[in-house]
Amino acid sequence: MDKPRVIITRRWPHEVERELAAHFDVVLNAEDMPMSRPELVRAMGECDALCPTVSDRIDAEVLGVTPRRVRIVASYGVGFNHIDVDAARAADLVVTNTPEVLTDCTADLAMTLLLAVARRAGEGERELRSGQWSGWRPTHLLGTRVSGKTLGLVGFGRIAKAVAQRAHGGFGMRILFHDPQPQAAEVINALGATACDSVEALLEQSDFVSLHCPASAATYHLIDAERIARMPAHAFLVNTARGDVVDQLALAAALREGRLAGAGLDVYEGEPAVPAELIALDNVVLLPHLGSASRETRIAMGRRVLENLRAYFDGRAPRDRVA
Ligand code: DGY
Repeated sequence: MDKPRVIITRRWPHEVERELAAHFDVVLNAEDMPMSRPELVRAMGECDALCPTVSDRIDAEVLGVTPRRVRIVASYGVGFNHIDVDAARAADLVVTNTPEVLTDCTADLAMTLLLAVARRAGEGERELRSGQWSGWRPTHLLGTRVSGKTLGLVGFGRIAKAVAQRAHGGFGMRILFHDPQPQAAEVINALGATACDSVEALLEQSDFVSLHCPASAATYHLIDAERIARMPAHAFLVNTARGDVVDQLALAAALREGRLAGAGLDVYEGEPAVPAELIALDNVVLLPHLGSASRETRIAMGRRVLENLRAYFDGRAPRDRVA
């Protein structure tokens, strides 16, 4: 029997591209250029599986192509807001993601941003590289102490819990969280965490806020001008979730006007565009969506896609089915 034809929309680490090729008739993207909509539409008609990443928009138009050959959309990434899962269900398509394997690295990056913005690492590096550093002095680039402060987590899923573990265990931080889902008491206790009834209550009490909710209609601009105004002026915002959870222009205005101390951002609304209003500010650390970007994790993510594909084409339930 012919091997199923699988198309991957971007380059993956070569180890997993090789593993994929051992099991499937694989169409690679050697140039690593984003696929255009016509190319995605063509792939839906010519392949048995489509493996997009979080930067491909897989909407109802792409999923609704006729005639369609694709039966499974096995996405490389944990977030799946780039896929219209309702349209996928309506079209009887299976959709999978890659949870768990990127939890630690994404939590590490949230801590990287938190520490970098609090301790003014970006500003310091820019100063040194531009030859402006004049030497040690007691009042040079004074930042904010992290240890012992209060960290509020919006969303309390796997990544948020991994951040809580690092922040509480490593930095003695007090942990607050808000999540509409009920949480196991033993997990909350182990992390020394306290639930807040509302996002507002969490924002008002936190020195640092880290966002870990999925992007959805309900969380679009969840952190808007009004909620930013609930944060103390000495507080910092970290976002490794999705860009559209934050009203970026309202955030830039608050940072510029000293109503918020700083922000560490890894994700943006409309990536790869980043508002000039944020780039202009010194009190914000900006990373280019690097949450899961370690070699080990990106290999593990590819293997998880492979596992989902193999299960599906062997007639078993894929482990990470989201639609
Ligand atoms: C994901 O998998 O959703 C991440 O944003 C990629 O780092």
